[in-house]
Amino acid sequence: MSQRNEQERSTRAARQLVETSRLLGVDFVPVRMDIGEAESEPGRAVPQVAREPERKEAAPADRREQKRAALDALCERHAAECPHCTQAQGWTNMVFGDGNPDARLMFVGEAPGAEEDRQGIPFVGRSGKKLNEMITAMGLSREEVYIANVLKTRPPNNATPTTTEADRCGVYLREQVAIIQPDVIVSLGKPAAQLLLNSREAMGRMRGRWHEYEGIPVMPTFHPAFLLRQYTPENRQKVWSDLKQAMERLPG
Ligand code: URA
Repeated sequence: MSQRNEQERSTRAARQLVETSRLLGVDFVPVRMDIGEAESEPGRAVPQVAREPERKEAAPADRREQKRAALDALCERHAAECPHCTQAQGWTNMVFGDGNPDARLMFVGEAPGAEEDRQGIPFVGRSGKKLNEMITAMGLSREEVYIANVLKTRPPNNATPTTTEADRCGVYLREQVAIIQPDVIVSLGKPAAQLLLNSREAMGRMRGRWHEYEGIPVMPTFHPAFLLRQYTPENRQKVWSDLKQAMERLPG
């Protein structure tokens, strides 16, 4: 391994350590196999990362570009046709999605807020900062994952999406997932979990255990905005526990 790669690897592991302990109040850091062997705590077992066969129909760069093109086409179709967004009022920019079209890990949030509406990018406000910290704590970067929402336009007064709104715009989220084919989805908050899992269960009952959407494992966790509002050690531990389960499910 080159000196530069080794340095990048240590920097990343250090950042992961800082974010996990600073933000989530955790007592140890599970280390992803593919970012090296930085020790978390002497004697603490490193969780095994399940290895699954990689999908290799196309070379990774080709596959990424094919998926990018498919997402671009879907984005245009959504902008022209979405029965919810084309009729909704009060938004400025559609917020389609952001990140790696060939991501192994996909996050699904609720709907754009004021800052997302201004920039046209999901999770760039306060909740976005917290989500970025969560991603770093997982040993990943925002560029490696894909982030989308149930609704692609900002609801007036940041209202929670109704079931009808979620169903109408959610068609395009389903298509995004079908293109990206992530290995794991982490849903953030109740509307995302309820839509993907076709459930009416409370968040507290859904989070923390595995579900499935179209054969893809889904780990529901609290929305970063909820975590910011109720930033208790207990909630932070719960979110971190959910994220750790997602990390362990990702192929190495
Ligand atoms: N909250 C969400 O659910 N999505 C965003 O993009 C921003 C805030």
